[in-house]
Amino acid sequence: MITIKINNKNYEAGEGETVLPVLIREGIDIPHLCYHDALSPYGSCRLCMVEVTAGGKKGITASCTLPVSEGLEIETETPEVVQIRKVLLEMYLAEAPGSKKIQELAKKFGVVHSRFADFDIEAKGDRCVLCGLCVRACNELLGIGAINYAGRGTNSSINTPWYESSSACIGCGACAYVCPADAIDIIDRGDERIMETWNRTTLKLKECVESKQYFATEKAVEYVYGKDSDLPEDLKDLSADSRRRKKAADFVLKPRRK
Ligand code: SF4
Ligand code: FES
Repeated sequence: MITIKINNKNYEAGEGETVLPVLIREGIDIPHLCYHDALSPYGSCRLCMVEVTAGGKKGITASCTLPVSEGLEIETETPEVVQIRKVLLEMYLAEAPGSKKIQELAKKFGVVHSRFADFDIEAKGDRCVLCGLCVRACNELLGIGAINYAGRGTNSSINTPWYESSSACIGCGACAYVCPADAIDIIDRGDERIMETWNRTTLKLKECVESKQYFATEKAVEYVYGKDSDLPEDLKDLSADSRRRKKAADFVLKPRRK
């Protein structure tokens, strides 16, 4: 175990950890957009900035990529750190004015206007903050890479190759699950799932043989079975609810020795 000081109080951290997970675990409130505990830290949103003192030197850096080390001292609320957060939030308000998450953070930090754009804070608009969590989920968790950064500068976006519907996307929804800005639209209609944000990539949904409910895309089910050949074939056509029911029924009906 490693001991670090946060806001003048000692905390234990694990070998190899970075500072942000410690702050989150200890309930120390710090804004962050591009961090998810299932994915590698990327350090792109810069909202998790803290003041750090190490080896007698002070600096300001992103806590999600800062490794813990014995005696590290962290301050999360210095005037400089708070000021950086506010300027960043002004930029995010200009970048993604439609994001509820950004609107909430801006409100929390008293940011009511942005010097970087003219907009109505309540207006619907862009929601993506370019944090890249969706890209990393698709790459790191699934190994698929159906989406990536595209364009430059103010035209940057996350997109499919050539801005066309993707043949690689399996419609699992992991991207939408990790997105902090609720910026990815997925529509289930009839027997189809439309990945609206990914240029309307359209996939067939699989129907549960018992409940007759659509529960996942055919491609996502094939992907899961392709990864794990030990999965029982008889569960392949069942939704999660039906699988649970079947398990419970099997347990109740199983003959037991007296
Ligand atoms: S779509 Fe969501 S997860 Fe992907 S970069 Fe934009 S805000 Fe981040
Ligand atoms: S959470 Fe650390 S830079 Fe985004």
